[in-house]
Amino acid sequence: MSKINQYNYKEQSLEVKQRFDKLKQREVILNVENLCKTFDAKKGPILENVSFTTYRREFTSIIGPSGCGKSTMVRLIAGLEDIDSGKIIVSGKEINGPGKERGMVFQGYTLFPWLTVVENVMYGLRRKGESKTQARDSALTWVKIVGLEKYEDAYPSQLSGGMQQRVAIARSLATHPKMLLMDEPFGALDAQTRATMQSYLLQIWKNINISVMFITHDLDEAIYLSDRIIVLKAHPGEIAEIIEVPVSRPRSPEQFFTPEFLATKKRLEELIHPKSEEPEEKIKIVKLTQAGDDVF
Ligand SMILES: Nc1ncnc2c1ncn2[C@@H]1O[C@H](COP(=O)(O)OP(=O)(O)OP(=O)(O)O)[C@@H](O)[C@H]1O
Ligand SMILES: [Mg+2]
Repeated sequence: MSKINQYNYKEQSLEVKQRFDKLKQREVILNVENLCKTFDAKKGPILENVSFTTYRREFTSIIGPSGCGKSTMVRLIAGLEDIDSGKIIVSGKEINGPGKERGMVFQGYTLFPWLTVVENVMYGLRRKGESKTQARDSALTWVKIVGLEKYEDAYPSQLSGGMQQRVAIARSLATHPKMLLMDEPFGALDAQTRATMQSYLLQIWKNINISVMFITHDLDEAIYLSDRIIVLKAHPGEIAEIIEVPVSRPRSPEQFFTPEFLATKKRLEELIHPKSEEPEEKIKIVKLTQAGDDVF
């Protein structure tokens, strides 16, 4: 029997069931109710009746085919776009715009190039009205938490991609949001840096009281990081399934090969690439040579 078949993630063990029962007793941080969004009526809705709840200190990932509305959903939760109908409630309050209880980290490096590391992290604190000394002190603590104390006076152009994303994380966390919204934050990094960043993020998450919502295309990354994974399907974006990841915590890279991990990955694959589904557009192969041409 293969390792994948040794675990049936649908029949949760008592330990896993208890873990998720406990998680769902925590304070609700985000409540999304019947969220709908259409950009262009001719193309139809992007998101339709999306509803889910996330809890205090929960790590949730969103996965789904390209264009299914993942970034749209996170931008709506961040308050950067207006919703058509439905509700987004953060810590009991319906949102209608951005707010300091929601921090955001995007894929591209979004630091201010003319500010140093510590100045970038100070930015939100200064906007909140903190004095320069106060803002600098707490910014330095965050720079230390993401392991960049030796680079506090460096400019973004002097840092690697992974280091820049650590500054972006510190900048988002410095204002003490309740939720960190991350849209493919490690998508532009090479595989090794990405793996290091995943471990960093888990360490930071473990040490602070924050709920994370994380978009990724990488199934291993979603399983490795998350408590639950929301799988979206496309046209319109609806929830296909919410997967409770049975892999125990604390996580370590060795778990990538456990039956629980492999079974979860298999289930994600089934949801994202259903066997019966025909590709939407058949790729046309352009014939470059005449039959019988001697190419080699
Ligand atoms: N501001 C906008 N105006 C018009 N259409 C938009 C806008 N933002 C997104 N869309 C459309 O909404 C759909 C969903 O886009 P979105 O970026 O949310 O997908 P995604 O799931 O994040 O995709 P990817 O995995 O490629 O990042 C796409 O068809 C996109 O063209
Ligand atoms: Mg996207």
